[in-house]
Amino acid sequence: MQVITIHSYKGGTGKTNLSLNLAVSAANRAKRVALLELDLESPAIYNTFKNTRGKWMNDFLEKDDVKLKDILTDVSMTAKTKGALEVGLANPEMSAVRKSIGGDRKEQLKGLKRLMSIREELKGYDYVFFDTSPGVTYASINAVLTADRIILVAKSDRFDIEGTDRLIAEFYEGLEKKTGLVVNRVLTPQMTQAVTEKIKIPLLASIPCYCEVPIAGSHTIFVNDKPGHPYSQNIEELLERTLAF
Ligand SMILES: Nc1ncnc2c1ncn2[C@@H]1O[C@H](COP(=O)(O)OP(=O)(O)O)[C@@H](O)[C@H]1O
Ligand SMILES: [Mg+2]
Repeated sequence: MQVITIHSYKGGTGKTNLSLNLAVSAANRAKRVALLELDLESPAIYNTFKNTRGKWMNDFLEKDDVKLKDILTDVSMTAKTKGALEVGLANPEMSAVRKSIGGDRKEQLKGLKRLMSIREELKGYDYVFFDTSPGVTYASINAVLTADRIILVAKSDRFDIEGTDRLIAEFYEGLEKKTGLVVNRVLTPQMTQAVTEKIKIPLLASIPCYCEVPIAGSHTIFVNDKPGHPYSQNIEELLERTLAF
């Protein structure tokens, strides 16, 4: 099993779209894939897939008696994947969001322990993808610590470059995790160059800004609904590079 975490310094870099499409693309190639949403502060994937289980990632992280298999929803039919795709959704209710932010250190450590236990529980799965919240929230830190490979997503504005650079220097260095960079929503080749001049981790993809991505919204899964679109090609290439580097 490979655990792949999609993370960034700032919000709005395109993590959720990338996670969703990478998981679908992987489920087209593999037998069993899980996509777990760890952006507990701004849940989004419930817009694409309905929760038919009534339990959330929040419950799994908080309660020892909730197994991941109790919360995973099979979305292979909706996503039209060749192999099985299951999702664990973050609870979008405000009370749940507030609770996830307010957790103390003990609860956060428990979250890490719970997350690490998925390796045992999901034995036999081919790939697990974590979508995260930006920056160093506990849920994101835990997702990074649990991962085999990390995709760090950045845009090319100055604040994002500075912040991503600091995130790598102060958090990633020393972790010794395979970490690659995606520059997303790129308008000109110079924009990618500006990022790679400053950020010295392997570049996995430079993905242009396509207006069709926000226009299509959360009900379109590009890799399956628009396989000929260049964004879908970018995703396929990114998945291959991520698994190979
Ligand atoms: N390559 C792209 N081109 C244009 N818009 C994009 C691209 N990738 C993502 N977006 C848009 O950017 C916004 C943020 O994307 P999202 O995946 O929600 O980011 P995050 O999860 O990092 O906050 C959304 O409106 C999405 O449609
Ligand atoms: Mg997101």
